[in-house]
Amino acid sequence: MEKIKVLHVGCGGMSWAWLKPLEGRDNVEVVALVDLNLETAKERAKEFKLEGIYVGTDLEEALEATKPDVVFDCTIPEAHEPVTLAALEAGCHVLGEKPLAHSMEAAHKLLAKASEADRIFAVTQNRRYTRTARRTRALIEEGVIGKVHTIYADFFIGAHFGGFRDVMDHVLLLDMSIHHFDLLRMLSGGLKANSVYCNEFNPASSWYQHGACADALFVMEGDLRFNYRGSWCAEGQNTSWNAAWRIYGEKGCISWDGDDELSLERVTGDQGFVRQLESTNYEVKHPQDYEDGHDAVITEFLDAVQKGTEPETIATDNIHSLAMVFATIESANSGQLVKL
Ligand SMILES: NC(=O)c1ccc[n+]([C@@H]2O[C@H](COP(=O)([O-])OP(=O)(O)OC[C@H]3O[C@@H](n4cnc5c(N)ncnc54)[C@H](O)[C@@H]3O)[C@@H](O)[C@H]2O)c1
Repeated sequence: MEKIKVLHVGCGGMSWAWLKPLEGRDNVEVVALVDLNLETAKERAKEFKLEGIYVGTDLEEALEATKPDVVFDCTIPEAHEPVTLAALEAGCHVLGEKPLAHSMEAAHKLLAKASEADRIFAVTQNRRYTRTARRTRALIEEGVIGKVHTIYADFFIGAHFGGFRDVMDHVLLLDMSIHHFDLLRMLSGGLKANSVYCNEFNPASSWYQHGACADALFVMEGDLRFNYRGSWCAEGQNTSWNAAWRIYGEKGCISWDGDDELSLERVTGDQGFVRQLESTNYEVKHPQDYEDGHDAVITEFLDAVQKGTEPETIATDNIHSLAMVFATIESANSGQLVKL
């Protein structure tokens, strides 16, 4: 089997989550590491025993010198547009970090370029591969609660990052909520949003400059309601990073704590003020070699490149998760309901 040649660009904090899963794969060869900061790229090369490969600061030079098959883009959001354009221009398939792009305009431009170049362009939405999220989706598909009509997600973390997040606008919606909106789309079977009303705020005690909290009410396709509450300045009683979920259908409710707690209450009778319910707690077991997170996204992407299949987080679909983020921001700014 021919090895897939990978150029990795953006060697900062998250690059570990990309380079680590590549170790030991016999279908991949990392041929170049690129970062605007040469020292950062060199450091990563040393840590991953890749000192012999091309290490540099100029993406176009690196593309020309190493002729990779794919580019892994782990740069900052504002750089996703120029990096992806250059990679597609050079005939590479691209797997990029979330978010797909820093604006809807840039996102549409990248989709058009990928289509013109006939290359796969996918986005890393690692949280949708969480094993208990997959089990939750499977229960919905099995019909255990009947047709789903309302989904609630609560995200409460008191996160003291320091750095750029403390001073950026719409910090929660832009940097984090994309994961929850994308999870909602996976759990709902890929539904798109029709409209949203969003109230964004920053409590007086918040250590962020802007938008640490948001409440958003979405109407999805099929009239499914999605009620989202998020806070990055919630001190105490924190939820999972995946948020805590309640999914109501015509016959019951599935509750997932965002980690490994998954339970169900289902109506079994048709009498009484509150109908008789049967409870089930699920122990989510998976094979030892079950992959989630970045491993799962990377495996699926490399398979797609080798077999010509379509990865789940292909940009043509992921743009509908991104659109939910920009619609919440538009609603928060205008105070109006926004139609998508
Ligand atoms: N999927 C997840 O769970 C998750 C978690 C955190 C961050 N992220 C995403 O990962 C990406 C990177 O985040 P990070 O925390 O590693 O940031 P970072 O700032 O630590 O690293 C980014 C690196 O990209 C380099 N860079 C910037 N522009 C470049 C360009 N044009 N060409 C080459 N190199 C460039 C910078 O020099 C820096 O070393 C972001 O898109 C972020 O949203 C994803």
